Formats: sequence, structure tokens, C-alpha cells
Amino acid sequence: MQEPECPKKGPYDLELDAGTYWWCACGLSKSQPFCDGSHRGTGFAPVELKLAEAQKVWLCGCKRSADKPRCDGTHKKLI
Ligand code: FES
Repeated sequence: MQEPECPKKGPYDLELDAGTYWWCACGLSKSQPFCDGSHRGTGFAPVELKLAEAQKVWLCGCKRSADKPRCDGTHKKLI
């Protein structure tokens, strides 16, 4: 698997509590935008997101952001 799947061409707009989260990088998780272990064997690994306090986040759904796990607008360039 060279390129990640693209489960959504836009960010996941979420209100998250403080804590540690694992963002899905392969795009195969059924629990988007979080890891469910589906990356095993793909060469991709989830990206850790640590939040010190509850906050609103925009997590990348296209899996192509240069600022993973956050959306950086790269999805706007996808066809
Ligand atoms: S959803 Fe991937 S860069 Fe915005």
C-alpha cells in the first residue's frame, strides 16, 4: 500500500476531551478518524494526538495533510 485511502475529502470537525488519541493514517479504519488496528500489514502507523485540555479540532480525513493529524487544507487540491 503506497498511498493511504481517502475516507473523506475534508476534515473531521470534533470536540475532544483532554487525553491521548490515535489518528488513522492508512485510511482503512472503520472508526474514522481514529485507528482501529486496520493498518496492520500496510506499512502505515497511526499518529498520536495528545490534548492537554478539551478543545475543538479539525482532523485530516483525506490522510494527505503535511501537518498530520490536523487538516492543513491539502484536501482542497484533491480531484
Ligand atoms: S482533510 Fe486532509 S488536509 Fe484537510
